[in-house]
Amino acid sequence: MIITIDGPAGTGKSTAARLLAARLGFDVLDTGAMYRAVALAVLRKQASPDDETALQSLLRDLRIRVDGPRVWLNDEEVTEAIREPAVSQAASRVAAVPAVRRFLMELQRAAGRNRNIITEGRDQGTVVFPQAEVKFFLTATPAERAERRRRELATRGIFRRTEEILAEQEERDRRDSNRSMAPLIPAPDAILIDTTSRTVDEVVSLMEEHVRSWHDR
Ligand code: DC
Repeated sequence: MIITIDGPAGTGKSTAARLLAARLGFDVLDTGAMYRAVALAVLRKQASPDDETALQSLLRDLRIRVDGPRVWLNDEEVTEAIREPAVSQAASRVAAVPAVRRFLMELQRAAGRNRNIITEGRDQGTVVFPQAEVKFFLTATPAERAERRRRELATRGIFRRTEEILAEQEERDRRDSNRSMAPLIPAPDAILIDTTSRTVDEVVSLMEEHVRSWHDR
């Protein structure tokens, strides 16, 4: 069974995916982490995140492995390194490059084969797993999302102003929603959940109800 969770940054996709997976006994696939790993590789090579030719040659000897919350780039663990703000911006840029999307889509589909997974990202319900049994699309107001991001960064010792985070978030939303390949939009059959004034536990319980009612139907 495949459950997809899509939506913009800061809507609580990762947390919801992890908690729902624990309740249902599913594995989790964080596809944003894959785009972040490609972005980190590009930044290290000092190449441009929009340069399709450079990206194509980089992808040729790039090995990305994701296991739950942990991520490896060519055998080096990069779980922490991919969470830096510079990587977030570069990830959104490499994600607009068709060669990168095709490369990662293959990895994502392989990860979903013969397993029960909850996969989260921007295009999981629309493009990568259109056949998924249950699809969610999470939203929240921009202010709430930026505030969540600020708190999350602070727990890791990165202190940023909310206005700065809001500006970067807007830029990333615009890029993710307007690219021509696999833009961020809800699948027609996705269940929309506004997480602005719901606790994580409320969101996860609501999702669990939907999954169980799909199962019992
Ligand atoms: O969810 P995240 O912030 O870790 O994602 C990083 C970037 O990767 C995000 O700005 C858009 C891109 N992304 C994507 O285009 N498609 C996905 N399925 C997941 C992430």
